[in-house]
Amino acid sequence: MQAVKDLIQNTVSFVKKELETAEAGHDWWHILRVWNNAKNIAKHETCNSLVVELSALLHDIADPKFHNGDEEIGPQKATTFLMDQGVSKDILQSVIYIIRHISFKNSFQQEDFTITPELAIVMDADRLDALGAIGIARTFHYGGYKNREIYNPNIPPVAYENKEAYKNSTAPTLNHFYEKLLKLKDGMHTNTGKQLAEERHTFMEQYLEHFYREWNGEE
Ligand code: ADP
Ligand code: NI
Repeated sequence: MQAVKDLIQNTVSFVKKELETAEAGHDWWHILRVWNNAKNIAKHETCNSLVVELSALLHDIADPKFHNGDEEIGPQKATTFLMDQGVSKDILQSVIYIIRHISFKNSFQQEDFTITPELAIVMDADRLDALGAIGIARTFHYGGYKNREIYNPNIPPVAYENKEAYKNSTAPTLNHFYEKLLKLKDGMHTNTGKQLAEERHTFMEQYLEHFYREWNGEE
């Protein structure tokens, strides 16, 4: 197998190219932030750092949301790339396992799956990017991309019963804060992730308070 440094560099180039036309909330800059978050968290955890870095880089290589719901394209693209790079079977399997299980929507599924230390780190890293100032920017960007209303006081947030209902929602963007973002902090796995999520969560709560005050013309 080639040097780890070259493997990471080749992965960066591959991901940048694949995501050239991606929606801005799931583009190369999202990957770079998640990669940095993951490296930060990994410093305090016992884990295989190559698996963490490769998974962080490849986790959104083909998000089903942007591929007609197809959940196989991402794992397939990553497998082909990693086999070309000559990575070991163990590393390949660990990375693909993370790509398959990282998504928040999987938390609606009944079946349990094992949270490996590497999955915990990359999941936390990805969820941190859904929180705080960046999380707010990504969420409104996604709502604009989907042409959703910003807020509609007549459409309250709901608790989705399953993954399909969550994925098919066309609710106003503000509802996403209650349907996903504000739930994330309680599902963090690592101590570093928990601490950072707490700060970003508080910032979002403050943002929402301001939002309603302004909506109601109170400031
Ligand atoms: P997951 O794959 O873990 O379910 P997503 O890729 O759906 O997570 O979400 C990533 C980010 O995309 C969210 O944190 C949010 O910023 C944005 N997003 C996804 N779905 C919506 C939505 N229905 N409304 C607004 N933003 C959304
Ligand atoms: Ni992501």
